Amino acid sequence: MRGRFVTFEGIDGAGKSTHLAQSIEWLRARGHEVLATREPGGTELAEALRELLLHRPMSLETELMLVFAARRDHLEHRIVPALERGAWVVCDRFTDSTWAYQGAGRGAAGERIAWLESWVHGTLQPTRTYWFDVAPEVAAQRRARSRQADRFESEDLDFFRRVRDGYRRRTEADPERIVRIDGSGSVEQVRAILEEDLARLCSS
Ligand code: TYD
Repeated sequence: MRGRFVTFEGIDGAGKSTHLAQSIEWLRARGHEVLATREPGGTELAEALRELLLHRPMSLETELMLVFAARRDHLEHRIVPALERGAWVVCDRFTDSTWAYQGAGRGAAGERIAWLESWVHGTLQPTRTYWFDVAPEVAAQRRARSRQADRFESEDLDFFRRVRDGYRRRTEADPERIVRIDGSGSVEQVRAILEEDLARLCSS
């Protein structure tokens, strides 16, 4: 596939939204076609599943399957066609979130996630993933200031410590793809790091 697939990850409140918007703007200003999207979501069906995932109580098994069902629809209808026509896909979260939240956070078995992952997206992986890393205490303060908590955001600090460890392990396992960004850095510092890396991806 000719396009580039870039994902943004991190615990809720790590600050990825600001940088996601700036990166999309930066790419578009350089003439690239960008599909800006998010998970769970990105299609009508997947957005409907997102509503259920974020607000309805359910078992871990159901949650895991709904996340991947949403992903499958999103891949088929939006992500894969965009990558095939050579566009950039910039996605707020992808399967690393499943490893971190359902896996490390909630305790879903790794073999099960791996199986669903290979069924739903075969060998397709993001070209680059930015992991916004920030202490769970800092993220919790930011969330408290800015919004009403959903089903994930109302979890306690220990949950977010496990999710963060999950991201750390993903990054250690795939350091070529996943770049850790210190989410406590200034907006300007982080922006410079991202733009430098995006420029590298543009020319690779
Ligand atoms: P997010 O898009 O960060 O929400 P907001 O719009 O509030 O910034 O994230 C949605 C939630 O979904 C987030 O708490 C993490 C969760 N999630 C999973 O648990 N597993 C997944 O595979 C994905 C993609 C998201």
